[in-house]
Amino acid sequence: MAWRWISLPIFFILIQGVLSRHWAAWMPQSISAFKETCVAIPCSFDYPEDIRPSAVHGVWYFNSPYPKNFPPVVYKTKTSSAHEIYMGRTKVIGDLQQSNCSIQIDRVSSELQGKYYFRADLGGYNQYTFSEHANLYILDEPFVVQPQEIISGTEVEITCLVADNCPDMKPEVSWTDVEGLEHHSVFARLEGDNLSWKHISTLKFLPSHKNNGQRLGCKVAYPGTELDYKGFVTMDVKYSPRIVDINSSTETTEGTQVAFMCIVDSNPVSRVMWYKDDALLKEDYTGNLTLELEYVTYMHDGMYLCAAENEFGRTNRTMGLAVMYAPWKPSVNASLVAVEGEMVTIFCNTQGNPDPILSIMKDKQILNSAVFENELVLEIPKVTHEHDGEYWCLAENQYGHSNSSFNLTVAFSPLVLPESKCTVTKDNHVQCMCTVKSNPDPYIMFEIPERNFTVSELNAEFVHSQRNGYMVSSILTLQKEEELPKVVLCSASNLYGKKIHELSFQDTNRLLWAKIGPVGAVVIFVILVAFGGYMIKTREKKTVTESSSFIQTETSPSYSGEKKKLGKLESHFLSLSERILLSKRKQHKPVDSEYANIDFSKQNVTDIYTSPEELTEYAEIRVK
Ligand SMILES: *[C@@H]1O[C@H](CO)[C@@H](O)[C@H](O)[C@H]1NC(C)=O
Ligand SMILES: *[C@@H]1O[C@H](CO)[C@@H](O)[C@H](O)[C@H]1NC(C)=O
Ligand SMILES: *[C@@H]1O[C@H](CO)[C@@H](O)[C@H](O)[C@H]1NC(C)=O
Ligand SMILES: *[C@@H]1O[C@H](CO)[C@@H](O)[C@H](O)[C@H]1NC(C)=O
Ligand SMILES: *[C@@H]1O[C@H](CO)[C@@H](O)[C@H](O)[C@H]1NC(C)=O
Ligand SMILES: *[C@@H]1O[C@H](CO)[C@@H](O)[C@H](O)[C@H]1NC(C)=O
Repeated sequence: MAWRWISLPIFFILIQGVLSRHWAAWMPQSISAFKETCVAIPCSFDYPEDIRPSAVHGVWYFNSPYPKNFPPVVYKTKTSSAHEIYMGRTKVIGDLQQSNCSIQIDRVSSELQGKYYFRADLGGYNQYTFSEHANLYILDEPFVVQPQEIISGTEVEITCLVADNCPDMKPEVSWTDVEGLEHHSVFARLEGDNLSWKHISTLKFLPSHKNNGQRLGCKVAYPGTELDYKGFVTMDVKYSPRIVDINSSTETTEGTQVAFMCIVDSNPVSRVMWYKDDALLKEDYTGNLTLELEYVTYMHDGMYLCAAENEFGRTNRTMGLAVMYAPWKPSVNASLVAVEGEMVTIFCNTQGNPDPILSIMKDKQILNSAVFENELVLEIPKVTHEHDGEYWCLAENQYGHSNSSFNLTVAFSPLVLPESKCTVTKDNHVQCMCTVKSNPDPYIMFEIPERNFTVSELNAEFVHSQRNGYMVSSILTLQKEEELPKVVLCSASNLYGKKIHELSFQDTNRLLWAKIGPVGAVVIFVILVAFGGYMIKTREKKTVTESSSFIQTETSPSYSGEKKKLGKLESHFLSLSERILLSKRKQHKPVDSEYANIDFSKQNVTDIYTSPEELTEYAEIRVK
């Protein structure tokens, strides 16, 4: 028990210290009220316990704690008086005897904003003004608070703080201009520290780019009164870029000028870029970016991408530009050389937009074609001499056309053409012509087997070849044949082969007699003899040169003036027969235009025995 006696005085001293009272007051440091409403400032105070007041009074002063300064009296309980601006508006609502100094001020106005001090009057000198005081704020709008950053797509809370310190009037808080807010909801709560109170209304929603710049209102109303107060906040909603507009895919032609727009909406402003095939063409920190192509070429054809980015995201959109252009000059095989029988593949390719119609042509004939292709192949499984020639590759689309040519050269063994034959003239000259088509040039020989006779280029009887393209004609002339050879062979050879061809005979004399018949021949002969006699008589003075010129009018180039008169007659007769033949030929003539006439008469024909008939034959050599 001894410890109690020791510990008790210490305990007592402690109690004394805690319980020992002194001058002190408690009230909110700051308190707010809306204009025209009221405010109750809670207040309590204490005083030293050795004071035993018979009555407790108090005074509230405005803005100054010192009565010597004569501050406005808000309320004085002893006399129930107040400064005129407080008259009838204020009352002490606490029980001063209970140390409750709470005061209520009605119909507050802005001039009442300020510091409020309480002075306790416990009688005699026991008067004390507490330094603790309340700051009264008079509001005319609620305080709306938004977070530092509002990001599109992230839920946000906006609060409206409403002072709620008037016991007689309770505020009603609502939100205005909330149309277009997604998923919005409102929560309300009261927050306070037992001295001052706030009504807090929270508006929750999911912001989007559409809400950027939107003004939200918080409205405070007091039921039963006309009073209402509004506070506003304008939202700054951050959002990732959106490509609002971009050109749709476009078609154009080469040489034009085009511009593409990329219109971007974002907050903050984005970096906007134009790409083509991953290559950055242009960029800028702007809302819109225009890509200009001054002179469009085929290289501009492709997909374009507009991308935009800011710290909140990145987006892109693509568009296509189709550049239409005429096909390019086709690329073809460089000129080809092939040997007969080989397979030849001909390639033609080009580029155009749209893809062109391609065709490979030879001699105005289409050999192969392809529609809407860039490449065409012509395969010739076994090339022959007929495939030799110039080929064209044509490419065409609606924007134009172009072509390329190349030559296919075919090496082939000799071919003896059907027009090769032997001709017997009136005076039993024999002239054999062998026309050979070959590449490379053939070696031509004539053979007369029954005479064991071979004529090559080395012999005098052999007339040097005349040529046209791959066509070579060689002529064998046999003079004054007593007996016609039965068989004349033409042999032609080159690297790739040899052909031996039996030449057929064409006897012009026999032909002529067959046509006019024996009787006719006799008649003509008689006429001619008579005519010849007449001519001799009438023209005996004429010079030799004159007669030769006469003959020359009949296109016979080489008759000698020394010939006998009969010879002249004969030649005249021949000219006539020739005319008959010519006119007959004209009737039977095939379409000449496809042929190239070889006019051998223009060449240096050295054979002086060549008859007009034979000359006509030369003119007949037609070459395909
Ligand atoms: C003071 O008086 C007011 C008004 O009557 C009352 O609301 C408040 O609760 C009192 N305070 C204390 C601490 O008793
Ligand atoms: C792209 O759009 C802009 C604006 O709409 C327009 O002026 C322009 O001509 C368009 N460009 C093309 C190539 O269509
Ligand atoms: C464009 O957007 C797509 C999908 O949104 C993305 O995969 C691609 O990388 C973007 N391209 C560029 C160049 O930004
Ligand atoms: C033509 O050219 C193509 C490609 O350039 C080639 O493959 C082909 O062999 C050529 N044809 C001939 C016959 O040379
Ligand atoms: C093809 O040959 C002809 C004549 O034979 C010539 O005019 C033309 O230039 C040649 N073409 C090529 C592409 O060599
Ligand atoms: C032709 O010549 C060959 C040898 O060169 C000979 O054998 C043959 O008998 C001759 N024929 C004639 C008809 O002369």
